[in-house]
Amino acid sequence: MATMGSLIGLVNRIQRACTVLGDHGGGGEGSLWEALPSVAVVGGQSSGKSSVLESIVGRDFLPRGSGIVTRRPLVLQLHKTESGQEYAEFLHSPRKRFTDFAAVRKEIADETDRITGKTKAISNIPIHLSIYSPHVVNLTLIDLPGLTKVAVAFYQQRGNKNLLSKILKTWFDLMLTRGDRTFGVLTKLDLMDKGTNAVDVLEGRQYRLQHPWVGIVNRSQADINRNVDMLAARRKEKEYFESSPDYGHLAHKMGAEYLAKLLSQHLEAVIKAKIPSIVAMINKTIDEIEAELDRLGRPIGGDAGAQLYTILDMCRAFDRVFKEHLDGGRPGG
Ligand code: GDP
Ligand code: NA
Ligand code: MG
Repeated sequence: MATMGSLIGLVNRIQRACTVLGDHGGGGEGSLWEALPSVAVVGGQSSGKSSVLESIVGRDFLPRGSGIVTRRPLVLQLHKTESGQEYAEFLHSPRKRFTDFAAVRKEIADETDRITGKTKAISNIPIHLSIYSPHVVNLTLIDLPGLTKVAVAFYQQRGNKNLLSKILKTWFDLMLTRGDRTFGVLTKLDLMDKGTNAVDVLEGRQYRLQHPWVGIVNRSQADINRNVDMLAARRKEKEYFESSPDYGHLAHKMGAEYLAKLLSQHLEAVIKAKIPSIVAMINKTIDEIEAELDRLGRPIGGDAGAQLYTILDMCRAFDRVFKEHLDGGRPGG
């Protein structure tokens, strides 16, 4: 029986396949992408979204800092490897393996500019990055431009309500309006005024969410400037909570590592619940493709035919594997 970890791996492959087929998540109902869950990070500009993702990955690889640094959504797929190898791959250059994470950051910046130009505009076309590492949990995360200020900046730049509402509709509505899908993450706890604390928020008394709040201490700009590495930062975060008179009692439920575990567990449960509808959607796709092949008349030559057969094979493969999971999907499996 396949494990849940490999189920998330399968979902990751489907999401990549969707993108290759031109489905970026804007397809509305019936879009396979939208049937599959991933975690989007939303929040104000410079609230620490990119830093949280880096902390979850345990690697320093995202453009980050003051101002709108993230200008295209970054769909980040984390794959746990057993081999000890650690590398990154972009969907837009699949044959290139990055082992230098500074080069990953540069590639994200360059690829952002390739679509937006140097104008600092915002685009909703995502960049897809996969990270393979023994230190991550299987998880799909989406880093988004900071929404509040993005809205303002966008109106200033283009005065175009459409693209903004598209960005909001595709990502924000989907994630934020549902309490069951929202995890509250409170960053910059180290920067609070002396004598104040965020225990009321972290214990869910101030803003009620279905899932528990997680407090985070990322690297400060000064840490980054001093080249404090991610492992040291995780250690420092752990120490911060364990030695804090305010948060000591919550220490085991705080920090980026705990957040990663929570998200991964939640994602597994959601995917499992969605398997029947995903199978139905895949079967519908198979039917549609077969109808299209009939219409074209088999056997068909040329690119269109070959592409349809490839898609059909892929759908059948996914269908088979999902059914295996469904049959073998005993609790705790
Ligand atoms: P984003 O715009 O939401 O993606 O925010 P970034 O991750 O780019 O972070 C913005 C700035 O805040 C950077 O200089 C980070 O070093 C700093 N920062 C983020 N989180 C924390 C935190 O928990 N504590 C401190 N002291 N600084 C943080
Ligand atoms: Na920022
Ligand atoms: Mg960012």
